[in-house]
Amino acid sequence: MSEFLNKITKRRTFAIISHPDAGKTTLTEKLLLYGGAIHLAGSVKARKSNKHAVSDWMEIEKQRGISVTSSVLQFDYTGYRVNILDTPGHQDFSEDTYRTLMAADSAVMLIDAAKGVEPQTKKLFWVCHRRELPIFTFVNKLDRHGRTPFDLMDELEKVLGIHAYPINWPIGIEGQYIGVYDRLKKQIELFEDDNSHGSKVLKSTTGSLDDPAIKEAIGEENYHNLCNDIELLDLAGDEFDIAKVNNGKLTPMFFGSAMTNFGVRAFLEKFLELSPQPQPRLLQDGGLLEPSNPEFSAFIFKIQANMNPAHRDRIAFMRICSGMFDRGMSVFHQQSNKLVKLSQPQQFLAQERTIVEKAYPGDIIGVFDPGVFGIGDTICSDKLKIQFEDFPVFPPEIFARVQPKDSMKRKQFVKGITQLAQEGAIQVFEQRDIGIESYIIGVVGVLQLEVLEYRLLNEYSAPLLMNQLPFTVARWVYRDDGKPVQEVKGLDNGLLVFDKKNRPVILVNNEWSLNWILERNPGFNFTQIPTGAAGI
Ligand code: G4P
Repeated sequence: MSEFLNKITKRRTFAIISHPDAGKTTLTEKLLLYGGAIHLAGSVKARKSNKHAVSDWMEIEKQRGISVTSSVLQFDYTGYRVNILDTPGHQDFSEDTYRTLMAADSAVMLIDAAKGVEPQTKKLFWVCHRRELPIFTFVNKLDRHGRTPFDLMDELEKVLGIHAYPINWPIGIEGQYIGVYDRLKKQIELFEDDNSHGSKVLKSTTGSLDDPAIKEAIGEENYHNLCNDIELLDLAGDEFDIAKVNNGKLTPMFFGSAMTNFGVRAFLEKFLELSPQPQPRLLQDGGLLEPSNPEFSAFIFKIQANMNPAHRDRIAFMRICSGMFDRGMSVFHQQSNKLVKLSQPQQFLAQERTIVEKAYPGDIIGVFDPGVFGIGDTICSDKLKIQFEDFPVFPPEIFARVQPKDSMKRKQFVKGITQLAQEGAIQVFEQRDIGIESYIIGVVGVLQLEVLEYRLLNEYSAPLLMNQLPFTVARWVYRDDGKPVQEVKGLDNGLLVFDKKNRPVILVNNEWSLNWILERNPGFNFTQIPTGAAGI
């Protein structure tokens, strides 16, 4: 195999999806610890508590510094190059969180054993599921009381509709598990007592199920229960089928504790073995581009503005899809139809930014953006001139009416709103015939509204008046007869607005109102995203 193909085969690019507090930061850090990128766990956590201390988001530069370094973390493990994409959670949940998933080849769904599937996990799961992304499940916090493994398998099936294949199974009693059984290897791993509180790699011994020493170490009752569980799983559970894993129909399931490191190595090794290498990408014309294509291509999935306040810079993060990136190369930017030089390419090794010399399919690099790039843009070699499929539009859930505080600053206000919409930071709607100059802004996370206010003031000197609106649901409206929608009846507690392409959209308080409105407008149809746009 050529060196180039070998690099592709050994790359794993994934995102961790979870609800806040399930342990994403802790698990990420432990993966770095096992990957040798850090030698003592605790540092990421410390960064994170700093972040929480900065509860006031107006200390925006600090906050950005953190989200930048954690945009992607990279480390090497047993010949693999691992790229973990950060999916912002907590209050900074936004379209960025969803878009990051477009750059991943698989996802790790992290679940708190006591809480099961939580709302944010569900939202992120659906985005992955619709893309048929392989999803690996890690059930965390097994060091304390939670639901039983069987219960959690059941919940995945009932709530998310996905079958699970437990790859490892915890041994012992709930909250005091002593090891795991690997169902594929048919091997037992028993953890040694450790007093490092998870700051160091956990030592363990391995052996087969019928090894007398292992049997003795487990104890008779635990051994008996384990054998029963395995039998039940083998008889009543799904069979392992990698094809089903690859199209997101079956999730390999792992149990462990990111805090105590229990099950972390077993998960990491199996995940690297089973998860897909960089996958072909869909093109606008319906074709596929293979990562092994020698010509360079990438798409932009995130733009971070003003990472360095002194320079007012913007960094565009791109995911490489084919060919090789070489520092200083000029590439074709499809959307502006121009050749651009990718300057100051950066990669993120553990917590440090480094200049990239070479990068391969699956890798993420950040480049300086002179203001030409947009989310979803295609960058490729001059010879290739392809365009990747459009980025999905995500339905906004939070809405606000904004207008300039100072009418003299109208121009800056419009410029700021237009640029931020282009950047993908907000979706903009207009209400017609109301006589005041205002826009309706739609976002996925509430923090985006604060960011909007702050950035308009600081980057465009345009202070805002902002009123959050009570709507939570947006639907694009169409008529069966193809005529334009001028009026929608029964919209008593809602609003008819128009998106930037002049398509009508209704905003309402809840999904229940939609039927009421449909009944009063025969021949009307609603879609969650504009038709023609790729949806989640
Ligand atoms: P997040 O990024 O998903 O939001 O979660 P994070 O890793 O910050 O973890 C949230 C809380 O859960 C933290 O506790 C963390 O220590 C704890 N945690 C993570 N993994 C495990 C685990 O395997 N077992 C147990 N028992 N707890 C776990 P905290 O009290 O908020 O912070 P700290 O005081 O521990 O730092």
